[in-house]
Amino acid sequence: MKSLKLEIPLTSYATEAELPLDEQTLVEQARQATYKSYAPYSNFHVGAALLLEDGTVFTASNQENAAYPSGSCAERSAVFYVGANYPDKKIKAIAVLARPGTGDIFQAVSPCGNCRQSLLEYEHRQKQPIRLLMLQPKGGIIAMDSIADLLPVKFDADDLFGK
Ligand code: THU
Repeated sequence: MKSLKLEIPLTSYATEAELPLDEQTLVEQARQATYKSYAPYSNFHVGAALLLEDGTVFTASNQENAAYPSGSCAERSAVFYVGANYPDKKIKAIAVLARPGTGDIFQAVSPCGNCRQSLLEYEHRQKQPIRLLMLQPKGGIIAMDSIADLLPVKFDADDLFGK
């Protein structure tokens, strides 16, 4: 028997100003997206902003449903929109954050398991990593250069096809 520990690479930015300009804007666009969230059940407004390789940005937010599981998270809404409408465009980065309640206080959120798996699918599909930007609980940003780093023991099409 052998016990192993996995290390997960991430970068911490003490302030958003340390990010490249396009990523600072992306985080701000995720903030604005929380105001379009439909979250009457959880009151937890999540915003996602997705940057394509060509510089285009799309935003999305969580969309809830009275039948709870029928709702969608912000990240999956964003990535499915791009997959459905711009299947040939590569996704460079995604920023995600939350705004609980009715105020203007923003909070860290990391993609749920379902969203990690969905983002991983697009990363695999485009054969290029997607960078993930998340707020830090005490200010600043945590960045991960690949969704695969969020799912170190992952399942993707390579496993399905035995590659
Ligand atoms: N939510 C997201 O939109 N993204 C996540 O990664 C975590 C959770 C949403 C789902 C639900 O509408 C609300 O946040 C509370 O779970």
